[in-house]
Amino acid sequence: MSVAAVLTAAGSGSRLGHALPKAVVPVAGAPLVVHAARALLAARGADASRVVHLVVTAPAQHRADVLRALEAVEAGDARVEVVTGGRTRQESVAAGLAVIGDDVDVVLVHDAARAFATPDLVARVIDAVRAGHDAVVPGLAVVDTVKRVGEPRGEEGWPVVETVPRAQLRAVQTPQGFRRDVLVRAHAAGAARAGDEATAASDDAGLVEDAGVAVWVVAGEEAAAKITTPRDVAVAELLHGPRSG
Ligand code: CTP
Ligand code: MG
Repeated sequence: MSVAAVLTAAGSGSRLGHALPKAVVPVAGAPLVVHAARALLAARGADASRVVHLVVTAPAQHRADVLRALEAVEAGDARVEVVTGGRTRQESVAAGLAVIGDDVDVVLVHDAARAFATPDLVARVIDAVRAGHDAVVPGLAVVDTVKRVGEPRGEEGWPVVETVPRAQLRAVQTPQGFRRDVLVRAHAAGAARAGDEATAASDDAGLVEDAGVAVWVVAGEEAAAKITTPRDVAVAELLHGPRSG
């Protein structure tokens, strides 16, 4: 039983607003994609299973930058490969999945933007798939009260439709883990539906749910928070940079 991972790094990072694509922006001493790759490759499942094939999606114009960044990653005997991503995250994951062999039975999908997810979290997801779940996502309890709103009224604001019971909510992270065949089928079905950023799936578990497959949540972690804005980078420097701890 072997594990492969698709590491999505093909986004532009428009909300970060850096000259470089987000995945190659250095934070806490290394590009985000390097931190994420190291955690994936360091993880060991309870049965010692580990990632043997890491596929990184890169922006078409920045493949060379991603390749160069990954030279700093100690891969051991794992195979590390860079493929060109697509217009949406969903298309990028599909491009990564396409080069994973059918000898692999578990596929992880992880965002370079969640660069500080720990090997422990990666292992927890692998173990839950091994334990028999077809699809596994890490989730954190939601701390804010969440309200569903209706259509905006001009510039004024939005009417509240309802307050969503918070105890039932989980904010979902990556890495997400899947039986390979389940994820491949869900992506094939999703590709037929999806178009642009607005209609593409924002996570892989969503595609699997649409295919009628049960998805399981394991405990997430704050370290796996997504780096989206300059503020997130500043926080990550404080938590993980040279003056942290
Ligand atoms: N991603 C990708 N291919 C795309 C879009 C996104 O591989 N076409 C990856 C990003 O590199 C990132 C992850 O998906 O690691 C999550 O996306 P997000 O945080 O939205 O990153 P960006 O799309 O780069 O940022 P933004 O939306 O601010 O432009
Ligand atoms: Mg994006």
